[in-house]
Amino acid sequence: MKKLVVGNLKMNLDLDQIASYLEIINEEVHSPHVVICPTSIYIPYFLSHDYRVGIQNTFLADEGAYTGEISPKQADSMGIAYTILGHSERRMYLKETDDFINKKIIAALKNYMRVIVCVGETLEERKMLKTDRVIKREITNALRGLTKEQLDNVVIAYEPIWAIGTNQTPTNKDIEDMINYIKLLVESYFNYPNIKVLYGGSVNEKNITELNKIKNLDGYLVGGASTNPEKFLKIIEVALS
Ligand code: 13P
Repeated sequence: MKKLVVGNLKMNLDLDQIASYLEIINEEVHSPHVVICPTSIYIPYFLSHDYRVGIQNTFLADEGAYTGEISPKQADSMGIAYTILGHSERRMYLKETDDFINKKIIAALKNYMRVIVCVGETLEERKMLKTDRVIKREITNALRGLTKEQLDNVVIAYEPIWAIGTNQTPTNKDIEDMINYIKLLVESYFNYPNIKVLYGGSVNEKNITELNKIKNLDGYLVGGASTNPEKFLKIIEVALS
């Protein structure tokens, strides 16, 4: 089974940088296994180059007076395949709660989008041995009320918060154990075996070969390294080999 590689460009790159990014990456990546999530205003450039495109957030309503938000209905109508929900940066800076995330997940699925649901523990939670509890809370709340058909369109991204942008990663064994835990959790709580699980947090062109030895892993959610087209291409090459 080929892995899925998702690039989350976050709030990076200006228009000139996007133009050169597209030039470099254009020849190489038109795989159904690669999804690029640029800052929303640049999405049309990526769509016009025939990439699989994701959006970094969608709102819980389909339309209405919600200044600054983008609805899953609007995103779907543009041909945007994926939405990232529950990212730790939005939980942290925008105070998104489990309940709010659950509502946004349901709205996105109703609009035929695929959803990448991010979960992960802080360093403090890890030190207090609360990792499993935090992941269980985030996942059971995020997926509450979803049908099996809806779960077909959900991918979980395990992103330990302390590994994001820090050049630190858990050991392969720790990641493998967590992937197993998440798969078992979704099976026992939602009667859904084999949910797809990605790893995210300081994935780069140097550690991808080692990370790619992890069994059970269904792909990667790449932040910083995906903003550099050469590095991102290297990650894709190894992950999809
Ligand atoms: P980094 O790859 O920069 O650590 O970011 C990971 C991430 O948050 C992807 O969503």
